[in-house]
Amino acid sequence: MRVAVAGGTGLIGRMVCDAVAAGGDEAVVLARSVGVDVVGGDGLDAALVGVDAVIDVTNVTTLKRSESIAFFETATRNLLAAEERAGVAHHVLLSIVGVDRVDWGYYAGKVRQEELCAASSVPTTVLRATQFHEFADQMLARGGPVAMVPRMRSQPVAAREVAAELVRLARGEARGLVPEMAGPEVLEMPDMVRRLLRARGRRTPAIGIRLPGAAGKGMAHGGLLPEHDGPRGRETFAQWLTAASS
Ligand SMILES: NC(=O)c1ccc[n+]([C@@H]2O[C@H](COP(=O)([O-])OP(=O)(O)OC[C@H]3O[C@@H](n4cnc5c(N)ncnc54)[C@H](OP(=O)(O)O)[C@@H]3O)[C@@H](O)[C@H]2O)c1
Repeated sequence: MRVAVAGGTGLIGRMVCDAVAAGGDEAVVLARSVGVDVVGGDGLDAALVGVDAVIDVTNVTTLKRSESIAFFETATRNLLAAEERAGVAHHVLLSIVGVDRVDWGYYAGKVRQEELCAASSVPTTVLRATQFHEFADQMLARGGPVAMVPRMRSQPVAAREVAAELVRLARGEARGLVPEMAGPEVLEMPDMVRRLLRARGRRTPAIGIRLPGAAGKGMAHGGLLPEHDGPRGRETFAQWLTAASS
């Protein structure tokens, strides 16, 4: 089987490619760094020749609603249209638990992405996952003497386990929106960031800030937690910390 991984050079994308290869299948990376632009369309048709399934884990780094919608809408439309032309049998999208409940700018793009999948003539599966353990590290990307961390209640999951689930889904029939995936325990994001800083021997203080409006309230009070049973990752944040800091 040939599986294209849109965003295959990214954080989870690399793990998805590993999981595809571990199962004996061929992974085809779609990313600008390998000459395929899902927004501009360059290289897309050529890359999808002979592809059976596409796993979409592309991303844009923005908090702006308009930028998020513009990226995910254009990228998803282009991908699905190219898949239709190439006869791809299955499109699998990674989304986020709570995007339909917490009205945050970035999430609006993910909702648009889900809507386009639901309306597509290409058979689709959408897996919503909670924040990855690595999300705590992404909170530190801006640097600075103090880490300002959104007050967010999360049930973080190992990105590697989400990657394995995406590949498992891609090998099966399209199922539409499937049960949400989460990790084994509920944690507060500022605490996760503090634990990560401690594990790295850093003294940077981490301050939890409630983001403005209803979205901030929703994030702080469980709007990003799974509401139903679904696949659960086994790796705890503590186990990930140990592995990531050794
Ligand atoms: N982080 C979390 O906790 C979390 C939780 C649940 C779901 N998710 C979802 O997981 C997805 C992946 O997140 P991530 O943190 O792994 O992303 P990431 O590390 O930022 O990687 C983004 C990927 O998208 C590619 N990309 C960006 N623009 C592109 C374009 N125009 N054409 C082709 N490829 C493009 C990048 O490659 P190039 O730069 O080479 O183009 C890269 O491979 C996102 O959709 C996110 O919403 C994330």
